[in-house]
Amino acid sequence: MINTIRSSQQAMELEYRYGAHNYHPLPVVLRKGEGVFLWDMEGKRYYDFLSAYSAVNQGHCHPRIVSAMQQQAEQLTLTSRAFYNDVLGTYEKYITEFFNYQKVLPMNTGVEAVETAIKLCRKWAYEEKGIQQDQAEIIVCEQNFHGRTTTIISFSSDPDAYQNFGPYTPGFIKIPYNNLEALSNALNNPQVAGFLVEPIQGEAGVNVPDQGYLADAAVLCKESQVLFIADEVQTGIARTGKMLACDHEQVRPDILILGKALSGGTYPVSAVLADDEVMKVMKPGQHGSTFGGNPVAAKVAMAALDVVVDENLVENAAVMGKLFRDRMKQLISDSDLVTQVRGKGLLNALLINDSPESETAWNICLELKENGLLAKPTHGNIIRFAPPLVITEEQVLDCCSIIEHSINVMK
Ligand SMILES: Cc1ncc(COP(=O)(O)O)c(C=O)c1O
Repeated sequence: MINTIRSSQQAMELEYRYGAHNYHPLPVVLRKGEGVFLWDMEGKRYYDFLSAYSAVNQGHCHPRIVSAMQQQAEQLTLTSRAFYNDVLGTYEKYITEFFNYQKVLPMNTGVEAVETAIKLCRKWAYEEKGIQQDQAEIIVCEQNFHGRTTTIISFSSDPDAYQNFGPYTPGFIKIPYNNLEALSNALNNPQVAGFLVEPIQGEAGVNVPDQGYLADAAVLCKESQVLFIADEVQTGIARTGKMLACDHEQVRPDILILGKALSGGTYPVSAVLADDEVMKVMKPGQHGSTFGGNPVAAKVAMAALDVVVDENLVENAAVMGKLFRDRMKQLISDSDLVTQVRGKGLLNALLINDSPESETAWNICLELKENGLLAKPTHGNIIRFAPPLVITEEQVLDCCSIIEHSINVMK
């Protein structure tokens, strides 16, 4: 029989005792979510300023997405791709038209979609670009975060991610982010097949590249017949105040990778989009996943994208994000503890004036928690602030007051 957990303390002890220690959560145990809010086991309410790493853009338990999931779950959940199902085709038409691509390859998690894009790029390199077998290279950026499979950690710059997980997958060239000269030099190598990039580096601490970087990088790639592959798992689906972060520079990636908010945080749904010229290289048996493209995922993704459009989340993220940054700039001028606010739309970060090894950002997050707002440090001295995109002006202002108060208490 399963015993009911009765307190936060008990829940944390159980996780500690029986779960692998591969995360270091903030000490809060959540049991309910609605819109921008989360509630802990003792009934305390918090603003969610992480949104499950930008998966819950549409707000927690959005009724339209939950209802789509429930209705489909009662009808048909999984057939595998051994057979057709009566939802997948509709979804494929919907998402390809939505993002203006000819084809989609459905997967589940973000990292699987990145793996898919890498495989697609390599196969295209051998079969279409004419690169010699096993010689294809993909350019990636320092400080990247694309997930945690063995291949993807092979090109990570974070020792926590890669150390003692070797041997590593070859075929990647790492260059500094936001550096067109480095990209141009790397593209001189005729074996290069793709450039895999996050339009904003989320995990690295919301590193926003210079205006024009993405557009110029896309042009350089085109000139070298190299695929521009955008990992929009975190930045996509309205998070940065455009439907895609690449839209800020009118860039259309050759391969677009989506995940997280494609399901509104209800279910793992990811996707790789490309045109026929690239996608045609994938033939039966060469790639797939038991759950990828299942009817529940398909219904959830359509509902999640409908919500983004119908509730004007792109515009709301842009306006609320500006409001947030403007208030935080005021805080910076008043406080020595915060040195910078950066971001786009509602993907923002505060830089804390202490070393990355210090506990300061963590302690600020503990103080924020006490004051009813949940956020998490990323890379030591940086705190990411990414609430659900349904947040209202009144709520943003309330949250700014909580952040200001928490920072001032720490001084
Ligand atoms: C840019 C980016 N790519 C890929 C991933 C991996 O996604 P998942 O954790 O769903 O595998 C993440 C997760 O944070 C991400 O931010």
